[in-house]
Amino acid sequence: MTDLLECLVCGQQFVFRPNEIFCPGCGQPGVFKNSIPDKVSINQEATSAIGKFASFLPLKQVRPELSLGEGQTPLLSLTSLEEGGRLLAKLESANPTLSFKDRGSVLVVQKTLELGWPAVGTVSTGNMASSTAAYAARAGLKCVLLVKKGTSAGALVSSSVFSPLIIEVEGDYGELFRESYELGKEFDLYLANSVDPVRLEGYKLTAFELCLQLGRAPDYVYVPVSSGGHFIGLHKGFSEMHRAGYIEKVPTLVGVQAAGCAPIARAFEEGRETISKIQPSKTIAHSITNPDPPAGDLVLKLVRINKGWLTAVSDEDMLGAQKQLARSEGLFVQPESASTLAAYFKLRHRFDGTSVLVMTGQGLKAAHQPGLEGLSYQASGLGDLKEVFRSFIYRK
Ligand SMILES: Cc1ncc(COP(=O)(O)O)c(C=O)c1O
Ligand SMILES: [Zn+2]
Repeated sequence: MTDLLECLVCGQQFVFRPNEIFCPGCGQPGVFKNSIPDKVSINQEATSAIGKFASFLPLKQVRPELSLGEGQTPLLSLTSLEEGGRLLAKLESANPTLSFKDRGSVLVVQKTLELGWPAVGTVSTGNMASSTAAYAARAGLKCVLLVKKGTSAGALVSSSVFSPLIIEVEGDYGELFRESYELGKEFDLYLANSVDPVRLEGYKLTAFELCLQLGRAPDYVYVPVSSGGHFIGLHKGFSEMHRAGYIEKVPTLVGVQAAGCAPIARAFEEGRETISKIQPSKTIAHSITNPDPPAGDLVLKLVRINKGWLTAVSDEDMLGAQKQLARSEGLFVQPESASTLAAYFKLRHRFDGTSVLVMTGQGLKAAHQPGLEGLSYQASGLGDLKEVFRSFIYRK
């Protein structure tokens, strides 16, 4: 694979350098140019996901010893929830730091080592922060996390345990995102933020695995969208699988946003080709609240090419879907991830076939936690316990 990036919006090509990932022509993030030969080999002997798909990755040499066991996640049937066609969940919440971000982080640290740079970092308070810090620790790299002023200690626990440098920064978070790249260039710090092209190469492996697990491409794939990085990575994965002859078609992708912060879904509904920055309103779905997504226009373009769909769902519907996934299927995922089930219910009259929901993050990682509903009885002895059991176990 080459080190050349291409802009899928305006077609410009440019060489990949960390911290210089945006198209000089139109400002959208570039992706690694696909240079797949006619027959790409999947290494079935490999025990890690990155080893299995090494020939598809933009690294000189893949180092499976830096893996924490990410990828190769379960694909589960959700029979009790399906309406019409088959419904399945790709469980990215089963990754080592409990979100899909691990698939990107394992590659980003290897790229940093390949370049001989001493440090990797990211602008995030959530899943990407803890994931980057964990993989940096394993690779022996320094890690810098730039977080918003006022981020709670609770939100930082899953990152600080890995001993990164955590800096609280005051001011506009969007500006911080852009400025971070300047700092990265000056200090040999690879700022691998949400739409970083190396990260996206990791996300595309989810699409590869999904097709191999299913034996074909699903008809629909539902995924929550914030910056757009994950959506683009999945689209790239399905397109490469298609080009390499493993699947007959690219599935229809459905991007899901929170109604309280839906700049890309709004542009889609209004038939626009570019997004406008919005004033975020309130939502409990903190992980998908980017009011000015850096890859928004690119997501819109891919949705047009793919004949895909974008929709927004309410907090109420996300929380309802989160409960349904837990009670009916034994899955505890973030409300952000459950948004995909809410969108499936909303759009089912439109789409019929095999649908896969991408469960991006585990429930305990979410800022918003469900209440303790199961704690409804108290007992002070065997007699009491028997009474409670009788009414619970044999209740219809
Ligand atoms: C759990 C979860 N789902 C979805 C997303 C959205 O991903 P992206 O920003 O790549 O669109 C995030 C991003 O942090 C996330 O943490
Ligand atoms: Zn461009």
